[in-house]
Amino acid sequence: MDVLREIAKPIEAFRRAFEVSFADSFQSTSGLVQEALNHVNGTTGKHIRPLLLGLCAGMCGSTPSEGSVDAAVLLELLHSASLIHDDVIDQSPRRRGALTLNAMYSNHVAVLVGDYLLSVAFMRATDSGNKELMSIASSVGKALSEGELRQIEAAQRSDVTTEEQYMEIIEKKTAALFEAFAFLGARSVDASSEQLLLCSSIGKNLGYAFQIKDDIFDYTPSKEIGKPTGNDILEGKITLPLICAYQKASEEEQETMRHCIKRAQSEGEAVTELIEIVHKFDAVSLAHEKLSLYTEKAREAILRFPDSLYRQSMLQLVDFLVERNY
Ligand code: IPE
Ligand code: IPE
Ligand code: MG
Ligand code: MG
Ligand code: MG
Repeated sequence: MDVLREIAKPIEAFRRAFEVSFADSFQSTSGLVQEALNHVNGTTGKHIRPLLLGLCAGMCGSTPSEGSVDAAVLLELLHSASLIHDDVIDQSPRRRGALTLNAMYSNHVAVLVGDYLLSVAFMRATDSGNKELMSIASSVGKALSEGELRQIEAAQRSDVTTEEQYMEIIEKKTAALFEAFAFLGARSVDASSEQLLLCSSIGKNLGYAFQIKDDIFDYTPSKEIGKPTGNDILEGKITLPLICAYQKASEEEQETMRHCIKRAQSEGEAVTELIEIVHKFDAVSLAHEKLSLYTEKAREAILRFPDSLYRQSMLQLVDFLVERNY
């Protein structure tokens, strides 16, 4: 976490205001809801997206405003809710080194707590009276669900997900949210239309990179990740490392891979075989190379802004996203 604290230095006041306001959102008068919310709040995430928002505001020429904090809290609540739902969908028992709500309570409780947080987010949007914020939050919510649904659809199809289909899925389920954070960071300090476009592009490209890195984690077990690995293919999800391996495979090997993919949801051996194939083709490195294409695009857009402490931090954030191991 130290690197992230260092990166946040130019926007320290914003970071603190965000943390206080975000934690305050986890309140309820109902016992079970409060207990579950305390658990979620106690295993809080990296808060990379709010950092992105604050740094975009800074790069556009102003210290982040009260509006920046409001937008960051609203979108981070949306993100928290989507992860609670995602863990139900993925039947995942752990996140951020702790039990997920579905594992600790049940799917029913987790779905409802996710809904509760979503409603808190939309109440905050309504209270802000900011129609643009409401509209962006709603479209992002829609994109997120569409992305998750497309992923289910892809997992049910018998053909292997193409790189293009994969990019469309992650654009909706991850990049759209990153883009909204970055855009609203710029918007919250009345940025010019050119700055808004640049920030949107930074956010979107970092979102792609973030999800590709996450999908790489699934093939590279380590304690720091804090959630299960080897889970994606078990759920039938074909992500970039597997797609890169498939692109390298001979026709015969592709046939074997297709056979394994069909069996992966019910047979552990097929999962092991696919993981071995990914490593045999060094497809994790191939996926990492593709990730770098997106972080490079983000860097190019960042360098269009004049030099400042904010810009320097933003470049460090990009490095962190490339190198992170949690
Ligand atoms: C990752 O969630 C969600 C993805 C889009 C892959 P994390 O558990 O890494 O949570 P944050 O990003 O730290 O909030
Ligand atoms: C990202 O996908 C989840 C959302 C965008 C909601 P994953 O399912 O891969 O995320 P993790 O690995 O559970 O964090
Ligand atoms: Mg998941
Ligand atoms: Mg998922
Ligand atoms: Mg994942």
